[in-house]
Amino acid sequence: MCGIVGYNGEKKAAPILLEGLSKLEYRGYDSAGIAVRNKTGETEIVKAKGRLKVLSEKTDGGNAVEGTVGIGHTRWATHGEPSEINAHPHCSDDKNVIGVHNGIIENYQELKDKLARHGYTFYSETDTEVAIKLIDYYYKTYNQGPLYAITHAMTRFRGSYAMAVMFKDYPDQIYAARNDAPMVIGLDEGESFLASDVTPILKYTKSVYYIGNQQVAVLGKGSVKFYDLDQMEIDIEPSTVTWDANAAERGGYEHFMIKEIHEQPKAVRDTINSVVKDGKIDLSEVGIDEETAKKIHSIQIVACGSAYHVGVVGQYVIEGLARIPVRVELASEFRYRDPLLDENDLVIIVSQSGETADSLAALRLAKKKGARTLGIVNVVGSSIAREVDHVFYTLAGPEIAVATTKAYSAQLIAMYALGMQLAKYKGTLDDERYASMIEELQNLPDQMSRVLEDKERIQWFAAKYANAQDMYFIGRGIDYGISLEGSLKMKEISYVHSEAYAAGEIKHGPISLIENGTLVVGVATQKRLFEKTRSNMVEVKSRGAYLMGITNYGNYSIEDTADFVVYIPKTDEYFTTSLAIIPLQLLSYYLSCAKGLNVDKPRNLAKSVTVE
Ligand code: AGP
Repeated sequence: MCGIVGYNGEKKAAPILLEGLSKLEYRGYDSAGIAVRNKTGETEIVKAKGRLKVLSEKTDGGNAVEGTVGIGHTRWATHGEPSEINAHPHCSDDKNVIGVHNGIIENYQELKDKLARHGYTFYSETDTEVAIKLIDYYYKTYNQGPLYAITHAMTRFRGSYAMAVMFKDYPDQIYAARNDAPMVIGLDEGESFLASDVTPILKYTKSVYYIGNQQVAVLGKGSVKFYDLDQMEIDIEPSTVTWDANAAERGGYEHFMIKEIHEQPKAVRDTINSVVKDGKIDLSEVGIDEETAKKIHSIQIVACGSAYHVGVVGQYVIEGLARIPVRVELASEFRYRDPLLDENDLVIIVSQSGETADSLAALRLAKKKGARTLGIVNVVGSSIAREVDHVFYTLAGPEIAVATTKAYSAQLIAMYALGMQLAKYKGTLDDERYASMIEELQNLPDQMSRVLEDKERIQWFAAKYANAQDMYFIGRGIDYGISLEGSLKMKEISYVHSEAYAAGEIKHGPISLIENGTLVVGVATQKRLFEKTRSNMVEVKSRGAYLMGITNYGNYSIEDTADFVVYIPKTDEYFTTSLAIIPLQLLSYYLSCAKGLNVDKPRNLAKSVTVE
């Protein structure tokens, strides 16, 4: 869950590394470091605890560090507290071998003991120092060069890693190794780049290489070669990235999160346009045709965090429309269950990053059990995208804020499209409803823009409740799915204790927590369930709750109950999540701002959870 970068060229490396790290800071931000080799062959290592700006100040924006080859790291601590000594890069005692690492070497203790027996001393608590010293050990013991040493160490590592390593004796090269952690390589005239995702590279090139698992890359100045574990050279074709470099910039907004909230109509429109053609949903690029659809007996949707919440909504949509049994499960649970699956089951993995460790493990288990797998993924070329049988790419563009907004919204579109098309193939959705749903789907981006226009009222409400200690979100059916996501947003960026409950459940326990002034958000967008949810809102109000309500225009009777109401435009009931989630995203955003918190980089969290 850290970010790594590398640069090998003719320009001053340190400013390029720092700029690259700033794009990856969402991946970890408790300490950072760079190592740069200068013309005399000496390598300067500079590290700093805290945000990247501390490292930047320490190196005068990188200008104080000489050299044109270097590697860098921004850390999210796994082994060892955030500190300068635990920050990367780590090196052999003679500074001959220097490296940065994202991931976890699970058997590091066993390797550390082995190295200790050979006289190695350790200064940090990290698994990375062990990994680098193991490479150093094989390098010195066998004297067969870096490729031999790295591949030999890779056969001993258990776990995930994306590593960049420099050797003093090979001053014009950077070595990169990967297993189950993301790494992208880009080349430009006379220079090469590596990074944990494409955003640091986009400015230089859109043609990138995705290094595979258990492979090594050797980066020269403007060149790259790839090798397998047997040190045999392999071919990897470059892929073209369609993301725009400006999409990874804040572009005048105060935070990435509010920028990404405003980008939702576009993310949704682009995703719709990728599958709706001539008034029909075309899943040919996903690879799901009528014959395949008819073979599906059941569906399991597996994901983590907000992506799981997309699954909760997806369950209602797909089961409701296509009448296929759907189960939704957290990837961290699914992977340690013994799920009943066979080739007639479809397992859908939802993931923005495509690198979430639990989701990746769940995918591999589903494949092992013989199920057909489909990924709803945002990052092209990510591990999940590469390993699933079918991939539905969401077109949200780069998402930088730790709290997901536009990727979540784009994932919902994928769920709707899948539900509708499976229903069409199975004959459970007639032509008239199908056509009207397509029309409503295409109206969503404009309707989302309308909801965004109401942001000042929500900002006012958030400022009023900035001191709230607890918050509850209630809803039924799809509205329960919306509540789960609203509650997660509130926790992760506003640090407000919040819970989401199926509205009918509150009287089975949670209602005892309601007292005078407790803030409750009632979501009531489903016609069939409106009166039921409203009754539950009345129940909490009569115990003293202060009520915010979210419902569709027209349901004005909610004003008899709720103290503050946000209305959303009318759409097909299966699509209401796309509109109702926006006020909740805005509420958590403005509340976080009112409390003066770090909206884009909330404490203890990282964007991409590549460790278990
Ligand atoms: C959402 O705001 C969170 N940052 C988090 O729950 C996230 O959705 C989860 O970690 C899954 O990530 P993924 O979509 O990249 O797999």
